[in-house]
Amino acid sequence: MLEIENLYSGYGELNVLKGVNISVGENEIVALIGPNGAGKSTVIRSVFNICDVRSGNVTFRGQDIGSLKTHEIIKLGISYLNQGRINFSNLTVRENLMIGADQIFEPDAVEEGLEKVYAKFPDLRLKEKELAYTLSGGQQQMLALGRSLMQQPSLLLMDEPSLGLSPMLQKELFKTIAGLRVEGISMLIVEQNAKKAIELADRTYLLEDGKVALLGGNEILENEAVKNVYLGGRY
Ligand SMILES: Nc1ncnc2c1ncn2[C@@H]1O[C@H](COP(=O)(O)OP(=O)(O)OP(=O)(O)O)[C@@H](O)[C@H]1O
Ligand SMILES: [Mg+2]
Repeated sequence: MLEIENLYSGYGELNVLKGVNISVGENEIVALIGPNGAGKSTVIRSVFNICDVRSGNVTFRGQDIGSLKTHEIIKLGISYLNQGRINFSNLTVRENLMIGADQIFEPDAVEEGLEKVYAKFPDLRLKEKELAYTLSGGQQQMLALGRSLMQQPSLLLMDEPSLGLSPMLQKELFKTIAGLRVEGISMLIVEQNAKKAIELADRTYLLEDGKVALLGGNEILENEAVKNVYLGGRY
């Protein structure tokens, strides 16, 4: 579905990704883990062409998306959940959800999308008219995720969705993510909780210093490097 091939990218003079290959299949959950600064967010930004992509290919369902604009990529069915649950704090919950979607879809489809998000996150319906900054941390993450879902993606790129959530809310989030897959959404998830990510995902890529250092399924939980660095240490 998504193929990232031999990707080199960075910011100005800084080279971050040094020949990265990552693929996400239809209906797959793929996790991307690695230390701070490894380039995880840069992988997602490269797909959206919002950093300096130097070489390599990014294709979605066989189509080269390297030169497309953000709204064109969204229209193809790829959405991006930013790191740090970014919302428009002085807009209402409803306005936050409408942003992005109303530029791209017919009014009926937007209403239908809104209804689906409210059904999934009842808190957001209750707070529909409240300003986003008044929401709790967990609700703000629901709002950010809800806004991505408004774009009716078939592929969702999530950058650290569980960051800053309590263990209980993290658990709920992972349940929600598993549910999204059942609805037919494929996902690439950057996650600081390596254990949870590996357990949730079909495959996990470990990124170190701009390169894929390891790729595997649940068995990499037993990998010494993963255990030492990620399960015992920071994670
Ligand atoms: N907008 C930017 N301009 C310049 N350098 C950047 C920018 N964003 C990130 N970098 C640099 O690129 C490198 C990779 O950053 P990136 O955000 O991809 O790492 P990450 O793996 O997502 O880390 P984290 O776990 O902290 O989120 C870092 O050295 C970072 O300082
Ligand atoms: Mg990051």
